[in-house]
Amino acid sequence: MILNLVFVYKKKIYIPILLFVVLSIWNCKPEKPKLNIPSTPPEWEYNPVPFNLSYPQHFPPISFPIDNPLTMQGVELGRKLFYDPILSGDGTQACADCHKQANAFTDPSPFSTGIDGLQGNRNAMTLINLAWAPHSLFWDGRAHSLEHQALGPVVNPIEMHNTWKNASNKLQLHTQYPRLFYEAFGTANIDSNLVVKAIAQFERTLISGNSRFDRWIKQEIIPTALELQGFNLFITDRNVNAGISGADCFHCHPHSNGMFTDFLLHNNGLDNEPFADNGLGELTGNPSDFGKFRTPTLRNWAFSAPYMHDSRFQTIDEVINFYSSGLQHSSTIDPLMKNINDNGVQLSPQEKQALKAFLMMLNDTSFITNPKFSKPD
Ligand code: HEC
Ligand code: HEC
Repeated sequence: MILNLVFVYKKKIYIPILLFVVLSIWNCKPEKPKLNIPSTPPEWEYNPVPFNLSYPQHFPPISFPIDNPLTMQGVELGRKLFYDPILSGDGTQACADCHKQANAFTDPSPFSTGIDGLQGNRNAMTLINLAWAPHSLFWDGRAHSLEHQALGPVVNPIEMHNTWKNASNKLQLHTQYPRLFYEAFGTANIDSNLVVKAIAQFERTLISGNSRFDRWIKQEIIPTALELQGFNLFITDRNVNAGISGADCFHCHPHSNGMFTDFLLHNNGLDNEPFADNGLGELTGNPSDFGKFRTPTLRNWAFSAPYMHDSRFQTIDEVINFYSSGLQHSSTIDPLMKNINDNGVQLSPQEKQALKAFLMMLNDTSFITNPKFSKPD
């Protein structure tokens, strides 16, 4: 008891003394130099207008990041940046050079070429309905948001090969950008954080929801018998014992959320070990992740060939043949590839035709021609 009292007594004295010492040291620190914020001309206005993103009712609600709500000014700025080669090291390459609208925002060449003529070993990805991508961007899922993702390509040596300092400086010296950033974010002090916020806002508007499939859901059209048969194959588990044909696609490419991807990483049986590219395993080093890649959406495949992370398939028929009878056994193949013992779901030629007819329903020409997504004037 006495000891306790002494302790409390001492603490009461020491704490204020300690605080005093800390505060005096803090006060002695030299004041940080003031940031050189460009002065904003009086005619510039920061008056952001919320962007009303419309999307089909059969899509789930979007959870927008609280620190980056969509605004008209932010989306338009993001669109300009997406199409502007100013972000690349030598001013020759924009995001849009590898993500072309006519190709559902991917690159028709198997491996895109960066500004130094170098190529990676993965196909560029489509940018479709990424407002719903919860995390796991890139083939190996290494980026956790669109903002985080957009930091990558600008400094990637085999892509735009720039530094963020250089990119921000160039934007800062530009005749239009400081004002556009001011109008979108209330500051003309441009940094990587604001650049990726604007680009991510634009990317969230890239919505495809007007395919024949969507119009069927909206009861605007009636599918043909062949399309319906293909749909049933798509959503059915094959069961050899019960004599039921099925293509088993919906597990990883769900139609129910309207996305045709679960945004998860799987090994869909493309290869046997050792894998040329370990996918998620390259990142984690964990052998149980080897060969796993992010499921891509099936929307707009007609515009986005070649297929798979390494562009191995040129046509949808090759893809269907692979799932039908080309699966490779490996230790990490996904348990959802249930027909591995038969090397695939074993579709008849007629069933392949039906499945293809249904997959055709996922193409949406209005997406690749939407003027709101194209290069701004
Ligand atoms: C040189 C070509 C090239 C350029 C330039 C480029 N990308 Fe990509 N992009 C790719 C490739 C290749 C991938 C897949 C890479 C991987 O998974 O490792 C990709 C993946 C992506 C993804 C992931 C999509 C998903 O579903 O996970 C997004 C988003 C993206 N890029 C946006 C951008 C933005 C924004 C820019 C400009 C700042 C940009 N890209 C510039 C080639 C490029
Ligand atoms: C176990 C999950 C799973 C199942 C089941 C599945 N897929 Fe996939 N699919 C994937 C993954 C993962 C990829 C990417 C693989 C890669 O590139 O390494 C993919 C890629 C694709 C691609 C290429 C898309 C592109 O943009 O490159 C198509 C097309 C495709 N699948 C169609 C189908 C069809 C049709 C079925 C049913 C016959 C099916 N998938 C069943 C997981 C699955």
